[in-house]
Amino acid sequence: MIEQINILRENGEKKLNSITSSEQLQEWYQQYLGRKGDLTSLLKNLGNLSTKDRPIVGKIINKVKHELQESFELRQKAMRETILNQELEIDDLDVSLPGRPCITGHLHLATQTLRRIYNIFQEMGFQVYEAPEVESDEYNFQLLNIPEYHPARDMWDTFWVNDEIVLRTHTSPGQIWAMREYFPKPIRVILPGKCYRFEQITPRSEHQFYQVEGLAVGKNIRLTDLIGVMSEFAHKMYGAERKVRIRGSYFPFTEPSIEIDMTCSCGDKGCRLCKYTGWLEVAGAGMVHPVVLQNGGYNPEEWSGFAFGMGVERPAMLKHTIDDIRNFYSNDLRFLQQF
Ligand code: PHE
Repeated sequence: MIEQINILRENGEKKLNSITSSEQLQEWYQQYLGRKGDLTSLLKNLGNLSTKDRPIVGKIINKVKHELQESFELRQKAMRETILNQELEIDDLDVSLPGRPCITGHLHLATQTLRRIYNIFQEMGFQVYEAPEVESDEYNFQLLNIPEYHPARDMWDTFWVNDEIVLRTHTSPGQIWAMREYFPKPIRVILPGKCYRFEQITPRSEHQFYQVEGLAVGKNIRLTDLIGVMSEFAHKMYGAERKVRIRGSYFPFTEPSIEIDMTCSCGDKGCRLCKYTGWLEVAGAGMVHPVVLQNGGYNPEEWSGFAFGMGVERPAMLKHTIDDIRNFYSNDLRFLQQF
């Protein structure tokens, strides 16, 4: 039997060395080391031996089994390497090919515009203050001197969540939040954010848009301060050659109320943008109404302030000659990627 084992081992090693494919390698394994392989059947025949010989032969068979297993693994490893090298030779790998570019996003045009506005006001000492987008009737209207049933409510088509809650129609309620937080310190803040109006959507108006509100409260703040700040803003944002003018207007939360316009980029030639008037609207503004100061906690006998509110998409449209506000939120990358 020992003779038989040795022959089996020699044949096995010889055959292993002549193997050229992984199928042959698998067959070899089945034949020698598999569950129905030659070595296993030898082990099964041990029972026919005398009790004296059994452990000796058993040991030899196991030793041979280990040796063959080891040779098998070496052979398998060598073959894998050969196959890999062959594959590498066939498809050569060109490491100089350019990679696939990954698309990086960039800031939305509205965000870019907002950040320019922040920078300009920051230089004038204004800090950014954020107020809620979902507001109460009280903050959105009543505290801004617009009582229930006041006809001025018609100025803001409103999305009502229920009888008391609205999506803010303007950033002005932020004035109350800021005053109530900062009292009794002087205030210089801008309040940026989204506003909502229950409006017919057209190329010029969306139901969702950004505003930037401005609020300054202090001792001896005057209308000329407001005009100075707004001209500085127009120059920084649109160019030093812009001129600013004011017109009388009406808002319930400012007294007096004004509209601020600036000269159009067409000079005084007139164009479609300015509807041939030579002037563009920049902001609604005015001196904070005494009732509003009071609602914010500031005594109007002692304190005064100015406020303004301006759009964000419109100025961006003017700057880039965009003729449809709906492009901002329709998520078409062909539009957004241009800016
Ligand atoms: N809140 C006003 C609007 O949305 C704009 C405004 C703000 C006017 C502050 C005056 C002062 O139309």
